[in-house]
Amino acid sequence: MNVGIVGSGYVGTTVAACLAHLGHDVTNVDVDRSVVEAVEDGRAPVDEPRLDELLAEYGGNRLRATTDYDALSDAELIFVALPTPSNEDGSVDTSVVEAGAESLGPVLAERGDYPTVVVKSTVVPGTTADLIRPALERTSGAVAGEDFGVAVNPEFLREGSAVDDFLSPDKLVFGTDDDDRAEDALCGVFAPLVDAEDPPVVSTGTREAEMIKYANNAFLATKVSLINELGNICKEHGVDAYEVAEAIGLDDRISERFLRSGLGFGGSCFPKDVAAIIAAARAKGYDPELLQAAMDVNDKQPRRLLSLVDRHVDVAGERVAVLGLAFKPHTDDVRNSRAIDVIRGLRERGAEVVAYDPVASENMRDYFPDLTYADSAAAALDGAAAAVVATDWPEFADLDSEFDAMATPVVVDGRRVVTRREGLVYEGLTW
Ligand code: UDX
Repeated sequence: MNVGIVGSGYVGTTVAACLAHLGHDVTNVDVDRSVVEAVEDGRAPVDEPRLDELLAEYGGNRLRATTDYDALSDAELIFVALPTPSNEDGSVDTSVVEAGAESLGPVLAERGDYPTVVVKSTVVPGTTADLIRPALERTSGAVAGEDFGVAVNPEFLREGSAVDDFLSPDKLVFGTDDDDRAEDALCGVFAPLVDAEDPPVVSTGTREAEMIKYANNAFLATKVSLINELGNICKEHGVDAYEVAEAIGLDDRISERFLRSGLGFGGSCFPKDVAAIIAAARAKGYDPELLQAAMDVNDKQPRRLLSLVDRHVDVAGERVAVLGLAFKPHTDDVRNSRAIDVIRGLRERGAEVVAYDPVASENMRDYFPDLTYADSAAAALDGAAAAVVATDWPEFADLDSEFDAMATPVVVDGRRVVTRREGLVYEGLTW
């Protein structure tokens, strides 16, 4: 099929490359020329495993990129994968998506072939029906349901495994409002994936599809906060939360996944999406206490880690190593990383922070330009009065004699990655 994608960020590029891989002719529109050039040259504009190989294979041929919306005039389906950042109060800023929809108007005008616009961006229930659809109608002069289709198809990609997640999904969600042609178009574009992988396909309304994305992320984020709350209680009782998690995970209804307690969740999705659905609920007059608690527990974890440091060392004027800056391993993304709060807390205490991350230091410079960034864990640990672990990079499990160079060998592990050994004063956050 001839498919358009508006937005070439991490979701848009992954979807574009994967749809090309499924055999479609894909046109990616983005306002950023450097991104467009990268795609055209067969280079991935974002750092994501396997994306490079897909871009190298399809970029410039089956996958084209341009800044010109007119290039979408023959597209049968147009996915909108534009960012939905947070406002100050946590609510979703839909201005980019709305502007994108307005730019699509002329592409939908006088077509006669019923193209379908598919919203991939994460938006609160009702946004597609009440904001995007009217924006498309207003700028095209065409009528949704008569001249073009509208659908919602949320994405559940994780950073670091986005391509694999797309190509082996747990489920596909197709949201349409009594629009069989739009749903047929979605079935058509995903047919090669459905034939190969046979994922469950959820056919539902646009509002429901929008909510499914939030419910999915809110559930997972709350699961992490729940195991963190239980982990905090475990710690107070001298119990290892990981032993408890392993046992409760044997109950199918609980499952062993997402039970790693510690410093909490970060990244571009969980904090933003939970805040957004809280704000959306409040706007409707409902106070979501449990989701707010999930956010509060998440905010609390860095403070608990710092209080464990305080138990052993007065860090004022001391060098403290922060190991791991990325919000999770295998990414250089530091957005909402728990390491940010940890570093802030250490600096408030007057510590001289020396940070190390295998790949994320450059991005952390945007938040802390004047921090000392070491180029190895060993260099960060050298002379440190304490070390805190904020990201579960596997290489931290191999640290051993490197701890000998510390001034005092105190390690507070927020991710249960360091291998304990003789001579180390080791504190786990929830164990
Ligand atoms: C998440 C969702 O998994 C994905 O479906 C959605 O589309 C986007 O948001 P991502 O943010 O890439 O993906 O990361 P994920 O691997 O889910 O981890 C999120 C955060 O939770 C990380 O900070 C991670 O360290 C933390 N986490 C996860 C835990 O603290 N414990 C766990 O058991 C699992």
